[in-house]
This record gives sequence, C-alpha cells and structure tokens, in this order.
Amino acid sequence: MQRTRIQAILIDQGHQLGPSASLQVAGWVKTIRSQKQITFFEINDGSCLGNLQIITEKPPSNLSTGASVCVQGYLVPSLGKNQSIDLQATKIQVLGESDPATYPLQKKRHSFEFLRTIAHLRPRTNTQGAVLRLRSQMAWATHLFFQQRGFLYIQTPILTASDCEGGGDLFHVTTLAAGRLSGEVFFQRQAFLTVSGQLEAETIASALSDVYTFGPTFRAENSNTSRHLAEFWMIEPEMAFQDLHGMIDVAESYVKACIHHAFTHCEEDLAFFDQLIEPGLIRRLRLVLETPCAKVTYTEAIEILLSSKQAFTFPISWGIDLQSEHERFLAESYFQKPVVITDYPAPIKAFYMRANDDDKTVAAMDFLVPKVGELIGGSQREERLFFLEQKMKALHLPLETYDWYLDLRRFGTVPHAGFGVGFERLLLFITGLDNIRDVIPYPRYPGHIAP
Ligand code: 4AD
Ligand code: MG
Repeated sequence: MQRTRIQAILIDQGHQLGPSASLQVAGWVKTIRSQKQITFFEINDGSCLGNLQIITEKPPSNLSTGASVCVQGYLVPSLGKNQSIDLQATKIQVLGESDPATYPLQKKRHSFEFLRTIAHLRPRTNTQGAVLRLRSQMAWATHLFFQQRGFLYIQTPILTASDCEGGGDLFHVTTLAAGRLSGEVFFQRQAFLTVSGQLEAETIASALSDVYTFGPTFRAENSNTSRHLAEFWMIEPEMAFQDLHGMIDVAESYVKACIHHAFTHCEEDLAFFDQLIEPGLIRRLRLVLETPCAKVTYTEAIEILLSSKQAFTFPISWGIDLQSEHERFLAESYFQKPVVITDYPAPIKAFYMRANDDDKTVAAMDFLVPKVGELIGGSQREERLFFLEQKMKALHLPLETYDWYLDLRRFGTVPHAGFGVGFERLLLFITGLDNIRDVIPYPRYPGHIAP
C-alpha cells in the first residue's frame, strides 16, 4: 500500500499544500471530535510521536478509536494550536474496525501497571511508541559505535553448558519428548540459557582482536525489582591487547555516543520524556555528555560511604558487595554523575577477572549512573594460565568443563578486557522511566511470562 509516513509530513515536512498534491496516509485512530458539519480525527502510524489530524465532512459510520484507516487527501494549513498541518480527507477507508465499548485504550492516561497487563496493545500508547523508537535508535547507535571503531559483530550461543558468571542463576533447558520432560538426553549433558556471551566472545577476540555481541541474556535471579529482568539484552565488547583503563575509556565513550545519538535522532521523543516522564531529563543527559565520569577504586568508594553519615539498610565495611542503595548514593548524591568503580575485592567478583598485585583485589569495573545504579560491569581478564587455574580450583569449578577456555591461556594468551552493558538499563537511563518492565516490549520476570 503506497502511503506517506506521518513522520515525513509532521517532522521532515516539505510537502506541498493544497488539492493538487494528493497523498495517502494510514494509521490507527487516536481521537475523534465531531462538530456540526465537520469531524476531526487524529491518526498515528508509529513513525513519530505526533498525530496527524484529519478533517472530513463525511466520516464513515464505523470510524472509532482504535480502528485502522487509510485516508486519501491533501494537506492544508491547520487552524488548530497543536499542529501546523492537517489533512483534508477526500476518501476514508476503515481497514479494521474497533469496538469502542471494549477497546481498552481510552483517551485518559493509563497507569504503567495496567498497560503491562495488555502488553500486546501498549505499543499504541505514546510512551511505548517513544520507548520503542528510542530502543531501535539505541540498537543502531550501538552498532555504529562499535563498527566505526573496527569491532566485529559476533553471535555467541544462547544454549550453553557453562555458567559464565558463576552465580548459578541459570535457566535449565530440556526437551519435551512425548509430552514429558526428557532430562539431559538431547545434549548428553546439562544445558542452560546463556547468562553472558563473554567466555565465547573471549575465544573470538583471541583471534580477531576486537569483537562485540548484542543478544538476549537470561538470568533466573529471583529479583523482583525495577532493575532486573529474567530476559534482557546485553552488549558485550571484548578487546584483545587491552587493559582495564583502556577498556573503561571505551565504555565511557560508548555511553556518551548513545546519548549523543539520542539527541540527534530522537529529539521529539526525548522532549516527550523530559516533559512527561522525568522533568530535567535533557539537562541530566547533557551534563553526562559534557563532563568526564568520576573514577574511584572500590576502597575509595567504601571510605566515601563510611564517612557519608548516611543511614543505609546494608552496613558498610571493606569486602561487602555494594548494594543498589550504595551505588545510587555514590552516583546520585555524592558524585551526581556517572562514576566508574574499579578494583573490587576478589571474592565478590567472577572467577575470570585478573588478579591485582595486592593479592586482594581484581581488575574489575562497575559503571554506575544516576537513576539506574549499575549500568555496565566489566573487567580485564585473567590471561595467565597459572593464576586462572589456581582461582578456578579454589572455587571448585570443574576444570575439564572449561578446558577450551584455559586453552586460550595455553596458546598465545594476550592481555584482554571487556564489559557488558544492560541494554534495558541503558534505556532506563536515557528515557527517565522508573521500571525496567516498561522499556522492553515483553518483560519476563518472576511470575510473569504472558503473552
Ligand atoms: O555485571 P554483569 O553480570 O556482567 C557480565 O555478565 C559480564 N560477563 C559482562 C562482560 O564483562 N562481558 O552484567 C552486565 C550488565 C549489568 O551491568 C547490568 O546492566 C545488566 O548486564 N544486567 C541486567 N539487566 C537486566 N536484568 C538483569 N537481571 C540483569 N543482570 C545484569
Ligand atoms: Mg555486575
């Protein structure tokens, strides 16, 4: 069906006005307002936030909110205050009717909780439309950023036999044979959904230097929070011939590139988030773009927390895993900007992180941002065979399962480093929304998988 996208009319503009320039648009009816002789109705096709107002003297009898329509007509200067251009209809075709008595999306604002119960219809709301456009742009910005720096986009497996993070928050995969779960028959061993593509990414970086993954990730953490999902998307760059601090520079540049891309490609949607979701959002993001991130070691962060006189639920001492309340205090109250924390105590971090010379800490980093807390986690990897084997033995990891991983240290090992960005957390940070369940079309979390 030949049609002009509403974005081309309202944002790009440059279309001729008047009856001699006929065009066709299509979309879903958002609102209808009838006066004596004339009916005004607005349609949206998802290409931008704004609706196109249609003017007609002869509305079809089955025109209603939620219906899909195709309209032929010509553009006229608008008499309304909200828009500069309307479409004077010459022909209106209702493609799909919508019963106004049962259509769940009314003109009033619905709560995000309610909208989650109709995930199949919520993309038609202004907020979800803006989120999904921004999500698409951030995916593009991600590919642009890494491709422009010569990183190769690689795909790592979704079905794996190893627990990369060692946390044990794995989904177990089995088959259904004759309607019954069939144990470990298919792979002849236990299989899981991936919690991270890092270990496999390391193997490819050990041949092609700079690579990145961008794919679905699964964690069976029983965390019913506004920052955790059971299925989320992660971007994982892995760089050979790289150390912790070079890697942190890449992470900081990446976050800034995403914000810059949002400013240049999502102006209308950002203005909407700034107005309706988080007043001050644009100022907050601009500040991130213009100032360098703070950088402190874990030990320094603990000192800051100890001397803060803040009443935390989880008490502070050297060696604890920082909780969300600590991370948010550091990013939101103390530094008031993104902060990178480095050199964490070895026992609270994953087995693959490189041991520092002090024998206590590892070359890890967490990238914390106001609003979200941990946005990125990464590290320099332990490239020395002896150290890695010692560490894995101490943690009782089955060395034979990881033999392939140890081979990387046996044959041409190199210093290397990488990080993982939670894509939905990046979207929380850039949209200002509060709940991670509202930045992915179909959120999965404990007790919830429908539809
Ligand atoms: O810090 P994490 O666990 O790091 C890794 O998985 C490393 N293997 C990454 C690497 O070095 N290649 O996870 C990385 C990021 C977190 O900082 C967070 O933003 C996000 O993934 N994340 C989640 N996002 C949504 N829901 C969850 N349950 C998440 N768990 C982690
Ligand atoms: Mg982490």
